[in-house]
Amino acid sequence: MRIPLKRHSVVPLYQQIEAYLRQGILSGSLAANTRLPASRQLARDLGVNRITVENAYAVLETDGLIYSRMGSGTYVLSPDPLLVIPKDQPGATWPLWQQGLELRSSKPRSSVEIKKASRHPELISFASGIGDAHLFPAEDFRKVLQTVMRRDGIAALDYGEPNGHAPLRETITHILASQGLQTRAENVLVTAGSQQALSLVSQLLLKPGDVIMVESPTYSGALELFRALGFKVVAVPVDRQGMQVEALEKLLQQHHPKLIYTIPTFHNPTGTCLSTSRRIELIVLADRYNIPILEDDFVGDLRYEGRSQPALKALDPGGRVIYVSTFSKILMPGLRVGFLVAEGPIYQRLVDFKRVNDLATSTLIQRALEVYVTVGRYQSYLRRSCQTFRKRRDTMLSAMQRYLPAGIDFDPPHGGLFIWLQLLENLSSTKLLSFAWEEGVDFSPGNGFFIDQTGGDHWLRLNFVAQSPDQIEEGIKRLGRALKRLMAAP
Ligand SMILES: Cc1ncc(COP(=O)(O)O)c(C=O)c1O
Repeated sequence: MRIPLKRHSVVPLYQQIEAYLRQGILSGSLAANTRLPASRQLARDLGVNRITVENAYAVLETDGLIYSRMGSGTYVLSPDPLLVIPKDQPGATWPLWQQGLELRSSKPRSSVEIKKASRHPELISFASGIGDAHLFPAEDFRKVLQTVMRRDGIAALDYGEPNGHAPLRETITHILASQGLQTRAENVLVTAGSQQALSLVSQLLLKPGDVIMVESPTYSGALELFRALGFKVVAVPVDRQGMQVEALEKLLQQHHPKLIYTIPTFHNPTGTCLSTSRRIELIVLADRYNIPILEDDFVGDLRYEGRSQPALKALDPGGRVIYVSTFSKILMPGLRVGFLVAEGPIYQRLVDFKRVNDLATSTLIQRALEVYVTVGRYQSYLRRSCQTFRKRRDTMLSAMQRYLPAGIDFDPPHGGLFIWLQLLENLSSTKLLSFAWEEGVDFSPGNGFFIDQTGGDHWLRLNFVAQSPDQIEEGIKRLGRALKRLMAAP
């Protein structure tokens, strides 16, 4: 144990040791039943007399904070709850530089906060950006982890290759090829979720103050990232066919962006798909103006009907589009495995940049994923997910027809995770949220998806895959009640 001691202090050494341990016990960092080092050992570690340590232990024992068991050692006791030091230190104790940071930090809503705010015992949430956790193949994955540990031993616990586990990269190319995107394992970089891929690509290509062009609205996590990195975010408007590529050329001439970020298929939050002609035009324009495209294909495969659209990457003659996708939505977000596909010098630069950022994505999880996601299994899992999610979408759409008041506008999505709703102009989704929490339902209000964070107040996003059909029915009923209350409010 390493205890900081001030050897020239007027405070005796035994008191310093005692105070340090007391702080640890009362703050909970030294948990009950933790075995403390033997006094002889601690005295040697700290370079003090054994009596000094014994005196410190004696005071703590008298105060009921530790106890010694004959022949076994000295252990921490559970402290009296009245003495416990609260976890949140008062802000005034932070150094000035920390206090400045505290004022600027924006805390995301935690599920605990939401539950507290809602005061409803059984909140139904349509707010998340992921699938139904009850459908995660958790048990299969547990077995696969065991298999990998048995099969690969310590190799599974190494850092692994900086661009990702080679057999997993190979599998990713097969999955992509089965979805119509042909690439090679040498062009795949495994990342810690697709969020890391967005972060690496944008940081490599832009510096603070540079312009990045995005659809408006767009994925709130990307907006937060680009803002945090100090980029100037410029909006391209969208309509029912996705990004209005017709408006793009003028914006490119005006703003000279360094990167175009787009979610062309089952967009977050709108659920729309970019038309094929716009896809082709987007690539032509980006090429003409020498601007890379960052394509976020987070749920491109979750299509429930309609004609499939090729990924932008599949239309790329080479090196224009950096493609990003993830296992978070189709499998489980806690894996933290996503990937990007890039060709040309940018690929190696991204590999190097990823390595200096985090050395590697978990080898154990990559190996397990590689065992779990054979192309065949991925396809059948995808088929089942699509069936389930299509039913849930239909359940939500029909519940919306029954329970939501007239005047709410939306396009039924053909895939993905979300329904994007427009309220009447004079209604605010932020205000609706308070009523919704009281009724016991949660959703994502529109503002977070817009660059100015205010332009989306009469929009809201509902996740239709995260809840069971019964919960969807009940949740939309509650949302209908909340909406009626909002409309009746002065
Ligand atoms: C459009 C989009 N892209 C990327 C991500 C990041 O997901 P992950 O890092 O889990 O792959 C999300 C998560 O919600 C998303 O909605």
